[in-house]
Amino acid sequence: MVSTVVSVPEAPSRLLDLLTLHLPYSIPLLRRLQFDSSQRGAATTTARVLYTPASAAEAGPDAAEPPHFTAAYVDLAAGSETQVWIYSSLENGAQLAGDDRDTCVQQIADVVEEVRRMARDEPYRGRGYAKALATKILGESSQEYCRDGWCHADVAVDNASSAAVCTSLNGKQSWIVDWALLLV
Ligand SMILES: CC(C)(COP(=O)(O)OP(=O)(O)OC[C@H]1O[C@@H](n2cnc3c(N)ncnc32)[C@H](O)[C@@H]1OP(=O)(O)O)[C@@H](O)C(=O)NCCC(=O)NCCS
Repeated sequence: MVSTVVSVPEAPSRLLDLLTLHLPYSIPLLRRLQFDSSQRGAATTTARVLYTPASAAEAGPDAAEPPHFTAAYVDLAAGSETQVWIYSSLENGAQLAGDDRDTCVQQIADVVEEVRRMARDEPYRGRGYAKALATKILGESSQEYCRDGWCHADVAVDNASSAAVCTSLNGKQSWIVDWALLLV
């Protein structure tokens, strides 16, 4: 069953406590969140903390620990730094099977879907930034290593916005490629 993904700007202390209970497996995400929470942290306005289920952050002595949860730190504006840190209780060393495993897998899928939604809903779309940046990069690279006059972009056939950027730059679709993933 699809679960609600909670999205907040800062990690609730209850979530930090929960991740602490899952040490050492949860350490990458826990340290990332603690860094942002600390005095020395450099929390950005673009970062979000996601988790599911909602009870993962319920405070109070009577709040039961959720048997399974997934949490993530997401900063899609982090550029070349790691943009997503994610932890699922599926990772904590216990051998899960059946419904427990399915619950964890569904939670991970729900959090990843929320990240995808965040990427689609970026507030800076449609302001000409991609076109301006592409124009600058193409201008610079044509002097550096594209002296043959050709530029190309690999655009998914269903990516209308990216295709529109290319069209806007006088690009033309020339061929369609099928990719195959070989697991060897
Ligand atoms: C693709 C992406 C970079 C476009 O960024 P953007 O800053 O919104 O694009 P721009 O505002 O510069 O738009 C450039 C042109 O594309 C058009 N365009 C952009 N998004 C569009 C959309 N969803 N539908 C139709 N046209 C669109 C604009 O109208 C503009 O056309 P114009 O120059 O004729 O006026 C952005 O949507 C994005 O980050 N998408 C997710 C990541 C991705 O798909 N990257 C590309 C991988 S190949």
